[in-house]
Amino acid sequence: MRVLISSEDIQRRIAELARQIEADYPDGPLYLIAILKGSFMFLADLARALKRPSVRIEFMGISSYGDAQTSSGQVKVTKDLDVSIEGHNVLIVEDIVDTGLTLSYLMRVLAQRRPKSLEAVALLDKAERRLQPVRVKYVGFQIPNEFVVGYGLDYAEDYRNFRDIRIFSENDTCLEEQKPLAEKQKIH
Ligand code: IMP
Ligand code: MG
Repeated sequence: MRVLISSEDIQRRIAELARQIEADYPDGPLYLIAILKGSFMFLADLARALKRPSVRIEFMGISSYGDAQTSSGQVKVTKDLDVSIEGHNVLIVEDIVDTGLTLSYLMRVLAQRRPKSLEAVALLDKAERRLQPVRVKYVGFQIPNEFVVGYGLDYAEDYRNFRDIRIFSENDTCLEEQKPLAEKQKIH
């Protein structure tokens, strides 16, 4: 599968986003709310890039009914926050904003809990697919209308472990690359 964004480019961009976020939130705790599972790698790298004392990590689980490549927009919270965000600065951490249905739903849900501020950071943005306008304050990369995998993003739960972001292609899954060397060398 063709690499769209290399792991080096991802790390470079995350460092830039972190500088922007540090400047915008000079003090007090900052709550990073990662949306499972797609944003787990982005969260880990973004959190480590942030040079500020109080970065609090929380997770939310969301399921959206749809097939492997599209979300239907019918979103359900499967794992809620364990803490109150009232009066705090909150940044939702998303892997990708596609139709915008998931993030706009989440923004509505979290806004009701009266945070001091509520914004979102998304590593990827497929703006041309947007069905629901949504405010995404920080965007890593604008990408074309292609289905992508890797760096947390899946196709039917596979490929999340790739270090870079690749354009998904059913005919060329490069699973061979993932096998340990000993496995590849086996004689059948
Ligand atoms: P939205 O509600 O259409 O904006 O969809 C957002 C969610 O759909 C993301 O959090 C991803 O889990 C998933 N998604 C959208 N586009 C892609 C893609 O290209 N690759 C993998 N997952 C995607
Ligand atoms: Mg997904």
